[in-house]
Amino acid sequence: MNNAANRPLIAPSLLAADFARLGEETRAVEQAGADWLHLDVMDGHFVPNITFGPLVVKALRAHTSLPMDVHLMIAPADPYIAAFAEAGADNISVHPESGPHLHRTLQLIRSLGKKAGVVLNPATPVQAVENVLDLTDIIMVMTVNPGFGGQAFLESQLTKITRLREMIDDSGRDIILQIDGGITPKTAPLVLRAGADCLIAGTAVYGAPDYAGAITALRAAGSRVTPTQLASGG
Ligand code: DX5
Ligand code: ZN
Repeated sequence: MNNAANRPLIAPSLLAADFARLGEETRAVEQAGADWLHLDVMDGHFVPNITFGPLVVKALRAHTSLPMDVHLMIAPADPYIAAFAEAGADNISVHPESGPHLHRTLQLIRSLGKKAGVVLNPATPVQAVENVLDLTDIIMVMTVNPGFGGQAFLESQLTKITRLREMIDDSGRDIILQIDGGITPKTAPLVLRAGADCLIAGTAVYGAPDYAGAITALRAAGSRVTPTQLASGG
C-alpha cells in the first residue's frame, strides 16, 4: 500500500471549481482536508475542451502546499512537460495516445524529479502500461471519457481496475492507482473494492455546498480491500 493510513487519497479536481476564483478554491479544498489537488490540462485537440496551461499551475502553486497532480490531456505532451515541472507540478500524468514514445515521456518526467503517471482511457487496455511499470509512479484509470466533468461513471472499467491492482501488487512496485471520472459517494466504494488508492473528484467536491463534508463522505466510502482480506471475507 502506498498510503500508510490505509485510507484513500482524495484529489479534488479543480475543473469543477469557480474559474474566476481559482486561488481561493485551491485554498478551500486544502483546508477541507484534500490530499492532492488535481489539475486537468486540456488542449481542444487531444480532447474536445480547453482549460489552462503552466501559467495557471504556477500561479496556483503559491496558494497551496498540496501535491499538484497534473493530468495532461494534450498532444503532443513532451514539449510542455518541462514547463509544467517548472510551474510546480508534483505529479505529471500522460495518456499513451498523446505521443509515439511513452517510455521516453516517462523518462523525461522522472528526469525532472517528478512522479510520472500513465492515464488509461476507457478503451485503452491495461497492456498499454504493462511494459513501463519500472518508470511509472501512478496509473490513472479514466472512468469517463476525458474532456469534461460531471459525466456518468463507467462501470465497465471496474474489471480493468481489478486487473491493474493485481499487476501492481505482482510487480511489488510502489505505484498509486488513481481513478478519474464520475466519482461520488456511491461509486467510490466500487472502485475502492476493486483496488483503487486515490479518488479524483470534481463535481462531487466542488459541486457540494460543504467541501469538507464532501471529502469526508468520499473517504468514508472505505479503503482498498486486499486480496487476502477478500479471501477471508473481510
Ligand atoms: C475529465 C477530467 C476529470 C474531471 C472529473 O477529463 O480528467 O478529472 O474533472 O470530473 P468529475 O469528478 O465531475 O467526473
Ligand atoms: Zn483528470
